[in-house]
Amino acid sequence: MTKKYDIAVIPGDGTGPEVVAEAVKTLEAVSDKCGMDFNFKEYGLGGDLYLKEGTLLTDEVIEELKDFDAIFLGAIGHPDVKPGILEREVLLKLRFELDLYINLRPVVLYPGVGTPLKDKGPEDIDFVVIRENSEGVYAGGGGFLKKGTPDEVAIQESVNTRKGVERCIRYAFEYCQRRNQKKLLTLCAKTNVLIYESDLWYRVLHEVKKDYPDIDINYQHVDALCMWMIKNPEQFDVIVTNNMFGDIITDLGAMIQGGMGIAAGGNINPDVTAMFEPIGGSAPKYTGLNKINPIAAICAAQMMVDYLGENEAAGMLLSAIKQVLKEDLKGLDAGKMGYGTKEVGDLVVSYI
Ligand code: IPM
Ligand code: MG
Repeated sequence: MTKKYDIAVIPGDGTGPEVVAEAVKTLEAVSDKCGMDFNFKEYGLGGDLYLKEGTLLTDEVIEELKDFDAIFLGAIGHPDVKPGILEREVLLKLRFELDLYINLRPVVLYPGVGTPLKDKGPEDIDFVVIRENSEGVYAGGGGFLKKGTPDEVAIQESVNTRKGVERCIRYAFEYCQRRNQKKLLTLCAKTNVLIYESDLWYRVLHEVKKDYPDIDINYQHVDALCMWMIKNPEQFDVIVTNNMFGDIITDLGAMIQGGMGIAAGGNINPDVTAMFEPIGGSAPKYTGLNKINPIAAICAAQMMVDYLGENEAAGMLLSAIKQVLKEDLKGLDAGKMGYGTKEVGDLVVSYI
């Protein structure tokens, strides 16, 4: 029987639509091979719609999105829109309103891809960061006092609920078990300074650990973890952390796996829906030039297929991605691949 999946597609801004088109092309190729059917519905959210109609993400659209099997997002960010508006009102709103409480970001160095880490190779860089995606400083709590005066005060609050921390840590244990590699879960926090929030994370880690006797736990302060990600990335299996630290360490992770041209992530709530995205941004200066690398978007599509439980298709996409990286691309940066955006998509399709 053919399995049908309804996928909401938000191409977004800048180079988003170009990379999404290539990812969709590869999804169509695997669906033909594996007896699946993707039904894509496009949503024109982003900077252009905002500038033209003043519309951002409406409640109606949020309700509609809940009915999809998954959401596929290109990029949000427009040079003519003041920074913060689209991020807060589209990307973060999607994460918050759909309660996509996990941000899953694999950091994997594939053969053929260069890393800036001297003497490290694919056997050393293969871990996953599970970033809490619905709380922390991203919750937007705080305010100004005496704004614009010499006595101005700015307070930015970090929200950490027992429920939010626990569901994230539990997901990380489950993920670590399913991944079945080193079976080591590392908590990244800052217990020596953030004496309330990190304390909560630390206690919950140890409590939840009792339900997972086969998983080892480890703790690292975020600053030290950044150092170890460079010096000994091979020690990591699964890292769990809060929203802000997760944002920062996953950019570092993206760089050691070859850059933003390959980094992808999933925003997940197992009970609602999930949204997959390349994490690199809209790269406006490359818009329409057929130069941007679509591999990160194709990796996001691969994660989506895997999340939907289509193992055969996920495996097929992954091998095709690996083959292109190993045999064809000269680099991952825009304009340095030796191929155009569309040609890279075609190569992946040819290997499928
Ligand atoms: C990310 C991005 C976003 C974040 C920005 C665009 C709001 O950096 O997905 O990592 O901070 O989460
Ligand atoms: Mg980020």
